[in-house]
Amino acid sequence: MGDRDSTREDQLIEGIEASPKQKPRFRATQEPALPKGVSRRQALALATCLSTQASQPSLGLELGALAQLLEDQYDRTTAKTAFDYGVASGDPLEHAVIIWTCVSGQPQRDSIEIGWEFASDPEFRQMVASGRAIAQAQSTYTVHIDVTNLESSRWYWYRFNIPIDQQSSIKLNRPSDRAAQHLFVSRVGKTRTAPSKGAVESLRLGLGSCQHWEWGYFGAWDKLRQMKPDLVFFAGDYIYESAAPLAVRRHQGGVPITLDEFRQRYKQYRLDPSLQAMHADAPWVIIWDDHELINDYAGVHPPKAESDFLRRREYAYQAWSEFMPIRQPKALQVARRIIWGKVADILLLDTRQHKDLQACAEPGGARRIALSKDCGDRYKTKRSMLGKAQELWAQQQFRQMAEQSSQWPVIAQTTLMSPALDGHGKAARYWSDGWDGYPFARSRLLSNAVLAGLGHLLVIGGDVHTAIASDLPNSVVLDYIDPTFSAEQIRIIERKISEHPTIASEWTVGGISRRGWDEARVTRRILDNPHLRWGDGRPGSFALLHLSMDKARIEFFAIEDTRVKGSNHKSLSRWQLDAGKPTMERA
Ligand SMILES: [Fe+2]
Repeated sequence: MGDRDSTREDQLIEGIEASPKQKPRFRATQEPALPKGVSRRQALALATCLSTQASQPSLGLELGALAQLLEDQYDRTTAKTAFDYGVASGDPLEHAVIIWTCVSGQPQRDSIEIGWEFASDPEFRQMVASGRAIAQAQSTYTVHIDVTNLESSRWYWYRFNIPIDQQSSIKLNRPSDRAAQHLFVSRVGKTRTAPSKGAVESLRLGLGSCQHWEWGYFGAWDKLRQMKPDLVFFAGDYIYESAAPLAVRRHQGGVPITLDEFRQRYKQYRLDPSLQAMHADAPWVIIWDDHELINDYAGVHPPKAESDFLRRREYAYQAWSEFMPIRQPKALQVARRIIWGKVADILLLDTRQHKDLQACAEPGGARRIALSKDCGDRYKTKRSMLGKAQELWAQQQFRQMAEQSSQWPVIAQTTLMSPALDGHGKAARYWSDGWDGYPFARSRLLSNAVLAGLGHLLVIGGDVHTAIASDLPNSVVLDYIDPTFSAEQIRIIERKISEHPTIASEWTVGGISRRGWDEARVTRRILDNPHLRWGDGRPGSFALLHLSMDKARIEFFAIEDTRVKGSNHKSLSRWQLDAGKPTMERA
């Protein structure tokens, strides 16, 4: 979460997310969902029976058998098919793409063999590849398959199945379902490869961020799906750990702490039909932010002292990598690069795992700090959002991107990179969790892009729950030049970026279900930060970025009401940047 703002709703949200009074081990207050077909009266009767049995074992029924009965009922009710969590694909390369699934129905073995098919048509007549894979209990029966030797720039279809000899170990909704073979075959997923190097082919990139289950339905994904993006970029906050006071629907369980609790949260989110369908319809590239673990953590620093934080972080990271369709789930390699022919070269950054503690942080995490106040930490030049190793890696990638010379070099990261000071003059305050809290790191990153020879950059992100179009000003580089650059390097940086006051065009997507800045705040922010050209903080937000050789065009949308299923959407704003021009225009 990158901002704390003044709407009543957000005050409520932030009270829940960041209150120092919040107990670290919150548990659900709502009652657990009952299995379908089991009334509350029946459950009470069963519970009474269980307790009676515990005190009077001579009645003949075994406690274990009754517990198993309840457990079985629950399992059979929840798993309607062997692939309830759907399918997904991601990280497309020129000749390869990752396909993903998770076996539902709580398999009774440590490993299950599953089949997969990959075809060039939706009916699977033209089979391109197929195989077997092992779904293991140690990764909660999730499977990542890197399908290789594919043709560049084309769409494919894929699906998974449970072979007959493996089916007996999966529990389905009703025993009679076992005869229905289609329940052991997943839905069909659609995915694609990237264009070949040098291919002049446009990219339709969907953008999303910040999907809180409790705040609303994810209808934004339905609308984006109808627009048929080639690729979806998710900027972080795929799940939320916290509850919402005005919930439309409830998380199962409280704040996740254990590995199993994190896994359950992802499983719940993947049951959302809109999210699942968007995953099935296009490949995604995904980075994480803070809510995949806890609001405003930074690297190894929890927002509030917590004895076993690193273990909790490990569990959060493991569950994320199990459920995301990413190429290296075990390496936690969130930073990576996606090349789209000659048109786009996208550098994805991890702004959480290696982040230094927020400047002048207090218990509870990041905070607003007045510029006029003495907060020396903010001016420590070595402080980093990315960590030193990732900064060096990004520097190397920038050089390769310059060699690749794609039309649009893109930095895809979690949050707003443009300064967003609240107020002006001595009263101005900045939000210490975002790039404003790491000014030298921001300058260093962009300076390295300039030194590598990259031209005008595009920056995309999310986190602030507000759709924003912004001209990222040169001052973010020039005002905080890293002192370790040589005089010659500084001269080059100054010369290259002095031609125009804007170093990059930045587009930030709003929240899939979270609300951001209200209208009054957007207006004030734009007045205080004139490089912010436009903003809209309504929830249900998404965007479609269309990159071609001659133009970068973006359209921001939002659905009308995230509390209503099937709500309509509308266009909020359109922007266009012509190749070779330094600033965007309204389209
Ligand atoms: Fe968020």
